[in-house]
Amino acid sequence: MELLVVPLLLALTGCGLSLDNGLMRTPPMGWLAWERFRCNTDCNTDPKNCISERLFMDMADRLTEDGWKELGYQYVNIDDCWAAKKRDSEGRLVADPHRFPSGIKALAQYVHSKGLKLGIYGDLGTFTCGGYPGTTLDLIDFDARTFASWGVDMLKLDGCYSNSSEKAVGYPLMSRALNATGRPIAFSCSWPAYEGGLPPQVNYTLLGEICNLWRNYDDINDSWESVRGIINWYSAHQEVLQPAAGPGRWNDPDMLIVGDFGLSYEQSKSQMALWAILAAPLFMSNDLRTISRKASSILRNKVLIRINQDPLGEEGRMLLKGRNNIEVWMRNLSSSSFALAFFSQRTDQPYHYRTSLIQLNITAPEVFSAQDVYTGRVLQNLEVDTEFTVTINPSGVVMLYVYPTKRLEQNPDAGLLLL
Ligand code: GLA
Repeated sequence: MELLVVPLLLALTGCGLSLDNGLMRTPPMGWLAWERFRCNTDCNTDPKNCISERLFMDMADRLTEDGWKELGYQYVNIDDCWAAKKRDSEGRLVADPHRFPSGIKALAQYVHSKGLKLGIYGDLGTFTCGGYPGTTLDLIDFDARTFASWGVDMLKLDGCYSNSSEKAVGYPLMSRALNATGRPIAFSCSWPAYEGGLPPQVNYTLLGEICNLWRNYDDINDSWESVRGIINWYSAHQEVLQPAAGPGRWNDPDMLIVGDFGLSYEQSKSQMALWAILAAPLFMSNDLRTISRKASSILRNKVLIRINQDPLGEEGRMLLKGRNNIEVWMRNLSSSSFALAFFSQRTDQPYHYRTSLIQLNITAPEVFSAQDVYTGRVLQNLEVDTEFTVTINPSGVVMLYVYPTKRLEQNPDAGLLLL
């Protein structure tokens, strides 16, 4: 009896369970199958788009051959529906033999041979959300060891088909089980999303100790409505969410859908900009084999990636929202720099927004330069009371990377980045 109680208590309090894996000091970047490819298992009629080893190998090829890897996109992540409907005779999870004939271990080797990392999906509960075998409490250690033996680098642990008390025990236990494998495996927890995403049900201090990232809100889908809903939820609850993030522990507003069907060009720029402000994981869920140049250029924007990956690891926040439906967002960056995003939730026409740093309550002794991350244009000699105007398109964004000018004079390479 006592033997059982002690680990349970440890699990509930999180004591000694710190996910000390040193991973993801900046938000992870890569590709994740779910939003675009869902649970398409029909490889007979749709061989190019079904969840199969071919799909993940194709994406690994694109990430390396098309230069995504150099930009930081290094994870190739499997989501639901990869497994066979039944565990094997030894009780092990096993990949669907028709769609993954070589198995996950071979896929991990392939992905590693390209200098990339492989992520896999599991579910704390009797089944995954798509109805595949889940990981019940008694199987946590066993499944963690299986994933490690395959050479997996990240686990997204979903939470369908378990109750709140099972989750409160299971997520800390999986964190410890992953650590115990001795293989560095980043841990993505869907736990808070199942508990409403807010305290008191969600303990963000504990999450920061046991998970590298966590989903806390609804699934993204291929629509602007969905992206807006996520942004609005994040701003409404930023007092709670913003302090929870930091190096090694990130809020995950879900995948980037830039390059899919639902967003306009302006909306695509907005998603990428806000995800950079939010220090969000950048997991693209799109088809890298057919992605357009325009969408690709948004996802490859080096200034935005640099903002997202800033080593300070501080999440940004909405500073103000006017009656004009323009929101101003800010993220503090290292070296006295910061990012400003002017985001329009208007639906009429481009809006001319005139302001100054002081009007945004930003006070600093420095003189700044501000680079528009999408046009590359630079505003020079920006003092706190210098007024400037940005023109923001409906559902679009203007984003500025603002840095002290003197740094540019001392080191010409430190400021401007070529787009
Ligand atoms: C849940 C998750 C999604 C995805 C699906 C898979 O809905 O939140 O991100 O993993 O399950 O079934």
